[in-house]
Amino acid sequence: MKILVIGGGGREHALVWKLKQSARVEKIWCAPGNGGIAQDAESVGVDAGNVRALIELAEKIAPDLTVVGPELPLVNGISDAFAERNWAIVGPRENAARLEGSKIFSKEFLLRHNIPTAKMYGAYDSSPDAYAALEKVDWPLVIKADGLCAGKGVVLAAEAETAQQFLKSAMESNELGSGGRRVLLEETLEGEELSFIILTDGERYAPMVPTRDHKRVFDGNRGPNTGGMGAYSSDDLLPAALGRTVISTIVEPTLRGLASDGIPYQGFLYVGLMLTKDGPKVLEFNCRLGDPEAQAIVARMDFDLAEILEDVAAGRLRPEKLRWKKGASVCVVLASGGYPGKFETGKKIEGLTSINRNTGVEIFQAGTRLEEGSLVSSGGRVLGVTAAADSLETALALVYQAAAKIHFDGIHYRKDIAAHSGRVKAAGD
Ligand code: AMP
Ligand code: GLY
Repeated sequence: MKILVIGGGGREHALVWKLKQSARVEKIWCAPGNGGIAQDAESVGVDAGNVRALIELAEKIAPDLTVVGPELPLVNGISDAFAERNWAIVGPRENAARLEGSKIFSKEFLLRHNIPTAKMYGAYDSSPDAYAALEKVDWPLVIKADGLCAGKGVVLAAEAETAQQFLKSAMESNELGSGGRRVLLEETLEGEELSFIILTDGERYAPMVPTRDHKRVFDGNRGPNTGGMGAYSSDDLLPAALGRTVISTIVEPTLRGLASDGIPYQGFLYVGLMLTKDGPKVLEFNCRLGDPEAQAIVARMDFDLAEILEDVAAGRLRPEKLRWKKGASVCVVLASGGYPGKFETGKKIEGLTSINRNTGVEIFQAGTRLEEGSLVSSGGRVLGVTAAADSLETALALVYQAAAKIHFDGIHYRKDIAAHSGRVKAAGD
């Protein structure tokens, strides 16, 4: 098999790493890839959001299978374009990717199908109407820009002033681009978050091991939100009874709802959950694997990912083929100084060769590039140090020992990934 992976972050490096282990894989390209992926796959300098350029690339290289990492090509319709040409691809069509591409669409879908989620106060496309709605909500309030906003589209407002500021910047000053023109106001949920990602061929589905991301930049969940500073997965992260509740009240109604709305869904579906005292509720859908959740998930895969993804693209997923390593996995993200705000790039990365991969540690590269033979930083999230082990404690020890050996100017990372990993107590357990 020859495979094209679209994207260039840590998630895509993890996918490439796992696909490469398959005996049936002969060649992998990655568009655009990054410095680390370049060691495992042939990088092609094509922008991941540019569907037309990706079609031209696929015409030239003729992959047997294309696997899409990020949301942008999916929301831009890459799966429709590939399907029209009968090219095998893993990832939902444009109309299904709207579950991520439009938060209002996604909320209306959830409400229509009675799937537990935060109460919606309203959706607005005019700022006077949105300001007026602030009179009738409970605080704190969650405001979401409707469209894709590169992680800047959600605010949790404790009082009216913060809410008004966000509405002004999104709807009047256009600071979030077209994604901010419409907004959704919803109730704030409390509890622990969980990323529950499934893989589906439109009929059958298989859950990935559940994971927990750490979105805030600093230890103790302080500081601004990031794309994700680390993730972990462990056998007891989600108690079995609560897992069954997630499946019966959320996952299956979602897949049935999509089918009955005439929006068949194929690919990874990321269900972002809040485990509230009233049971699990949907915070958001993403039409892809999470990053860094993917790194923690891939580390525990005990099956041939190329075979499974080929099955998904062909509509013949056999969920029983997905087997998982027992124990736990952890991914800690090493970030550039200043991230998620302004940061400098081009910092030389040192220490990678001193890490003993035999212990099960993998370094998935995200914001890196090769410059005159050296690896340098090129983004906010630079590396994802990842390990799977028999226990969470061992996985944590492995990643933090490895992280301590790595250096680049300004490096920072959270020291408390999975530190609050007690069994989740929530309704449904
Ligand atoms: P989203 O872009 O929808 O994933 O939201 C980003 C983050 O905002 C989530 O991971 C949560 O931490 C938080 N969030 C979103 N919706 C809510 C909500 N209704 N209540 C509390 N937190 C939320
Ligand atoms: N780590 C969260 C996301 O990928 O959306």
